[in-house]
Amino acid sequence: MVSDKDFMEIWIEKHRPEKVSDVAGQKEAVKMLEGFVKSGEMPHLIFAGPPGVGKTTMALCLAREMLGENWKDHLLELNASNERGIDVIKNDVKEFARNGSITEGKFKIIFFDESDQLTPEAQAALRRTMEIYYKNVRFIFSCNYSSGIIPPIQSRCVITRFKKISMEDMVEALDKIAVEEKMKVDRNVLEAIFENSDGDLRKAVNILQSISFIENPTVKDVYDVSGSIDEKEVVPLLSNMRHGNFEEASRISTNLIVENGFSAIDIIKALHRLITREQTSPIMKRESFIALADTEFRLAQGGSDHIQLDFLVARMCKLSTDNL
Ligand SMILES: Nc1ncnc2c1ncn2[C@@H]1O[C@H](COP(=O)(O)OP(=O)(O)OP(=O)(O)O)[C@@H](O)[C@H]1O
Ligand SMILES: [Mg+2]
Repeated sequence: MVSDKDFMEIWIEKHRPEKVSDVAGQKEAVKMLEGFVKSGEMPHLIFAGPPGVGKTTMALCLAREMLGENWKDHLLELNASNERGIDVIKNDVKEFARNGSITEGKFKIIFFDESDQLTPEAQAALRRTMEIYYKNVRFIFSCNYSSGIIPPIQSRCVITRFKKISMEDMVEALDKIAVEEKMKVDRNVLEAIFENSDGDLRKAVNILQSISFIENPTVKDVYDVSGSIDEKEVVPLLSNMRHGNFEEASRISTNLIVENGFSAIDIIKALHRLITREQTSPIMKRESFIALADTEFRLAQGGSDHIQLDFLVARMCKLSTDNL
């Protein structure tokens, strides 16, 4: 028999905020958009910023609050990843905009998600539409880079920049979800989730859900489910490289690959985090970053994990013996 548990809800959907003021971080955006809601007016908007920081969420919250009851009837949501061509503009957008089913003085919202994927022709076709139907339609474009949107559209919009979520805001948001899910989780575990999510709250919530199946989850569990390495694991490697002990450093790095199953990229990322905080000379830091980036590039070109890591270890040991 299939139980309710088999239909486990995905937390990123279950805990998606429904009100503008509930969106974590993004204080400036929240303030501005709340002003729009209060006045009942808004310009065309561009939401630009990195993945998983609340752009789509915010657009839906704004539409819900702006359009009131039956908001879904007055919102056209287009995901440009599947519908990027000019046909969408010609057909769906114009038809929705033209349909004057809305009460006098009110407008509808067309939300173009991932709009930097729209072809330039489709964007160009939108310019006129935006003007012709300004009376009864507002556009919201969400994108990772506002540069993906053609200048004439940019100039018709107010650009709102979304930022990566800070540690404080992320820990608070995760804690709120944990409380709602009756999940016990320590602050240092939440901080480890932050370390592993690059300011991306979607990624963070997914990690939180993955460790929710573990009783008393630890920092190590966070690193395990996110497939990255706890920096502690590379401390002996760095320390040996800093002392120029090539053989020992090479042995440790081989072990990390063979015994622990980490990839060279995982190791490089962990080293990068560690060196960022390391107390060492600026020259040593600079040269280390160059070596890391160089190795990362070689790996991306298809270099072998073993050979490239030995190359990195050799180079880092040489830096130390060169007495930088
Ligand atoms: N600022 C935030 N406040 C609260 N929850 C958030 C926030 N950002 C992301 N989330 C969580 O992550 C999920 C995905 O966020 P959202 O779809 O808004 O990201 P996005 O910025 O549109 O990313 P993308 O650029 O990949 O489209 C949300 O459903 C929510 O659970
Ligand atoms: Mg989105």
